[in-house]
Amino acid sequence: MHVIAIDDEFDAWRVAALDALAQKLPPESIDWRTAQAEPALFNESARSAKAAKAADAPPIRVSRELASLLKDAAHFRDARRWSFLYRVLWRWAQGDRSVASPADEDGARLYKMAKAVRRAQHDMIAYVRFRQRDASLGAPEFVAWYEPDHDVLAWGAEHFAARMGRSTWLIATPDGAAMFDGERLQLERGRALASDHAAVLPDAAEALWMTYYRSIFNPARLNESALEQHMPVRFWKGLPEGALIPKLVSDARGGARRVAQAQNVGALGGKAVQVDALAAQPERDAPTSLDTCRRCDLWRNATQAVHGAGPSDARIMLLGEQPGDQEDLKGEPFVGPAGQLLQDAMQRAGVVREHVYLTNAVKHFKWEPRGKRRLHKTPAQQEVEACSYWLEQELHDVGAKVIVTLGATALAALFGRRATLSAHVGRVVPYRDKLVVATYHPSYALRQNDEAAREKTVAAIVAALELASSLKA
Ligand code: URA
Repeated sequence: MHVIAIDDEFDAWRVAALDALAQKLPPESIDWRTAQAEPALFNESARSAKAAKAADAPPIRVSRELASLLKDAAHFRDARRWSFLYRVLWRWAQGDRSVASPADEDGARLYKMAKAVRRAQHDMIAYVRFRQRDASLGAPEFVAWYEPDHDVLAWGAEHFAARMGRSTWLIATPDGAAMFDGERLQLERGRALASDHAAVLPDAAEALWMTYYRSIFNPARLNESALEQHMPVRFWKGLPEGALIPKLVSDARGGARRVAQAQNVGALGGKAVQVDALAAQPERDAPTSLDTCRRCDLWRNATQAVHGAGPSDARIMLLGEQPGDQEDLKGEPFVGPAGQLLQDAMQRAGVVREHVYLTNAVKHFKWEPRGKRRLHKTPAQQEVEACSYWLEQELHDVGAKVIVTLGATALAALFGRRATLSAHVGRVVPYRDKLVVATYHPSYALRQNDEAAREKTVAAIVAALELASSLKA
């Protein structure tokens, strides 16, 4: 067995392969090793001896097509690529032209490898995003983090070097980096310069790009599978606009529904509710982690996550179940009919809305279609538990000493599923360093057709609010 040690790159392989052909070494007699895998096999004299030897090797003529296939396939990530490429070259040198045909087994593999590499090259040009660094950090001015599918860093770096003038930049990848100092390109194998990458600051151009991307994104024409095909999800994390996409997609779903609802609104009975189109979709430049929450599946059909609202030093927290249709569109809690009833109850109880913190046990709207309408669906305990992560943060960040739970879901969010509303309603129960007053959900009152029964429920909510404000927790 002949061990041939080369640098892990096409030119080194080509020189060594021509040499091996000149010596008539059949593919199965060669053990190809690379510098990356076995640095100990390498030293300067060994390498220059090889280069000198190869200079004597007679050139072999291959078709232009095969030359380009070999060159591209050489970037395919596979430890056996060099021995495979040598087998192809060997067969060609023996006069076996079928090796360059996609109908041949080796030929098919060669085509597949070259195709995958060309795709990775295309992706690299399409998805590398440079970010400008803080000028005080010096060169490089621009850095990008990228995770190529194949060994296309050097190829991509040549491309950017030819297009980015004399600016200085760095592309860091998980297994190497390319640096350009304005004149020379330098490639470094091994660990990427991750700390350098961390020093990136979002630049003005990026903010502009985000605004532009948002403005050209047409929700009415969204085709999610086409989007994911053209911009695979695995690239999103390296793209600034990647952070926007989940919300844009979710808005598009809500928006499309709203258009459908608007078209049919005249046909529906009941009170028309005005929704200001701009206010209905607040744009968040920097989505918070709640905006991109994927702890359960409710985000998929919601327009957006609905954050709690109110002063962070509020003494009283009102805890509802989940946003409703209008809260989902507007991105604010208790702005629909239940919110209106709650507002009236607060007024009767002498509680000022601006002084309390309003939130929900679940932050995304869970619903099911009923004709053109979205009907509220009670969240499952699992969803309540998944969302408790956010509620915990609010309990910690908002110093409220008294919590008024509105309805069974809110109560269960604090005390678990076994805590029944009937056993707790109107009562004060200690909870950690706080006091909890349990009462009905305002939409329970809204559902009651009987005027007297409704008033009784509203009166109970008012009484709970009065009790909450009288408590000295
Ligand atoms: N019902 C809730 O529980 N919360 C809201 O925000 C709206 C309706």
